Amino acid sequence: SGAVLYQQNCAFCHGEKGLGRTGAFPPLVEHAPTLVQNNEGRSYVAQLLLYGLQGELVVKGQRYNGVMAPFSHLKDEELAAILNYVLTAWGNDKLLPQGFKPFTAADFTPLRSTRLTPAQVMAQRIRLGLR
Ligand code: HEM
Repeated sequence: SGAVLYQQNCAFCHGEKGLGRTGAFPPLVEHAPTLVQNNEGRSYVAQLLLYGLQGELVVKGQRYNGVMAPFSHLKDEELAAILNYVLTAWGNDKLLPQGFKPFTAADFTPLRSTRLTPAQVMAQRIRLGLR
C-alpha cells in the first residue's frame, strides 16, 4: 500500500508524519498538496519522484539546499500509491484542489522518457513558480 511504501522509502527523511527536518528535509504535511494545483504541478511532482531534486528551495519559510535521490527503481503503480498517500495523509486531503484526480501509473509512464537530472527538475520547479 501507499502507506507502507511511504514508510519504506520516504519516512527516513521526511518523517513518519511528513514533518521533515528543519533545514535538512522539507515537510510534506501542509505542503505537498500546494504542488499539485494544476497539470504542470502534477507533472513536476511525478518527475521529482522519478528523477530526484537538487538545489535551493524554500518551503514554509525555511530554506533547503540538499539532494533527493531518484526513485525510478520503483514501479509506476508504486510511485502513484506513494504520492496518493502523501497527498491524503496527515490532513493533506483538505488542501487538495477541487476535482483532484488521484495519480495513476499513467501519470508516470510517459515521463520515464524525459530523463532529467535532479537539477533540471529544480529548474522546472522554479519555472512553475512553486513555493
Ligand atoms: C524534496 C517527496 C524520499 C530528501 C521532496 C519534495 C517532495 C518529496 C514532494 C519536494 C518539495 C518541493 O518541491 O517543494 C518524497 C517522497 C519520497 C521522498 C514521496 C519517497 C518516495 C526522500 C528521501 C530523502 C529525501 C529518502 C533523503 C535521503 C529530500 C530532500 C529534498 C526533498 C533533501 C529537498 C531537495 C533540495 O533541497 O533540493 N521530497 N521524498 N526525500 N526530499 Fe524527498
